[in-house]
Amino acid sequence: MADFAPSNNELLLDIASEFGTPTYVYFESVIEDRVRRLKSHLKGLPLRLLYAMKANHAIPVMQKMRREGLGIDAVSPAELMLALRLGFAPEDILFSANNMTDEEMHYARGQGVILNVGEVSRLEAFGKAYPESSVCVRLNPQIGAGHHDHVITGGSKSKFGIPVEQIDEIHRIASEYDVQISGLHQHIGSGILDTETLWSAINVILEASLSFDQLDFINVGGGLGVPYRPDETGLDMEHFETLIVDPLKSFIESHPSRNLSVWFEPGRYFTAECGVLLARVNTIKKTVHRTFAGTDSGMNHLVRPSMYGAYHQVVNLSDPNAPLKKYDVVGNICESSDFFAKDRDIPQLKEGNIIGVMDTGAYGISMATTYNMRSLPAEVWVDSKGNASLLRDRKTAQQMIDEILGDV
Ligand code: LLP
Repeated sequence: MADFAPSNNELLLDIASEFGTPTYVYFESVIEDRVRRLKSHLKGLPLRLLYAMKANHAIPVMQKMRREGLGIDAVSPAELMLALRLGFAPEDILFSANNMTDEEMHYARGQGVILNVGEVSRLEAFGKAYPESSVCVRLNPQIGAGHHDHVITGGSKSKFGIPVEQIDEIHRIASEYDVQISGLHQHIGSGILDTETLWSAINVILEASLSFDQLDFINVGGGLGVPYRPDETGLDMEHFETLIVDPLKSFIESHPSRNLSVWFEPGRYFTAECGVLLARVNTIKKTVHRTFAGTDSGMNHLVRPSMYGAYHQVVNLSDPNAPLKKYDVVGNICESSDFFAKDRDIPQLKEGNIIGVMDTGAYGISMATTYNMRSLPAEVWVDSKGNASLLRDRKTAQQMIDEILGDV
């Protein structure tokens, strides 16, 4: 691990005092480490790595991915526009909008990016609009996985992808409009630590690929989990290599004439551990039953605990060696689901202390809202030399209401 990592208490406290709280901080060194780590485990594959920018589209994060040679998985016109604006080449972008509209399809096609279609009716619409062209198709391998029901995107209850048993429909449409199916895609869920299930799904798509003779690539999605709890070790990458990478290599080698490449498109794996949400404890409330540590942030900034019951480590940056006490660490939002941690042992907190909510670089700011009319947090980038710079400041209450009022 590089020196300038989220474990650097002093640096985080300096950032809190210079830029205030609540603030998301992202460490370049961690992104670099995770991207290179994954590349090293996938070595030997005819590989293309995309970054699922929905995890975190902060500009230096995106620029870092570009410098690392990654492409982009974009799922909305704005994501696509931002990726293009930041210099990603159209052929390095996969556009996977769910329930894509005609307008979105024409826009993406006009930009020259690869479209990924997950509905039979959209494939038909694509064929009609762009006969004799090529497209990628998202399959539902009827296998799903993930850290919570809400993030499972494969299986019989999932709205995503064309069910694998409808492959004949795909062939029918492709031949009717002379459309080349150039890629097969799947993404079965997020936060997957169970490599066996991931492999079972990949196996389904590999078998399905045999009936498509004009494929250029197979995209096996993202979903790779990371450790959030102190006792979690994350994906066992040796096991991942043996169970997934080696068989993928054998598959490619046994079909040399097909010239296939294999794509992965993680979001969380690259960015989750690069991020810390800094907040200030502004109220300690003791009741007979519990002690609440109330902060100046909340579920509006990090919704994962309330939405999925997700665990994020909470660190007392101001006094990391204080004796442990039990807390509910909560925010300032008017909902009882507004919490970061419940019944958690944390070094004793005092009003004014700065806490770090760890591993919040993925699906933190990208899912944040201004609920209760509270500003989004500020964002700070720490480059690999340890230089911290402000990416975006918080808005004042006046700025927020001026925007809402407009000309009123
Ligand atoms: N590809 C597609 C088509 C996706 O829908 C997603 C994530 C990814 C790739 C990247 O997945 P990752 O590698 O990050 O797991 N908000 C949830 C996660 C939802 C993920 C949605 N799709 C959370 O905070 O856990």
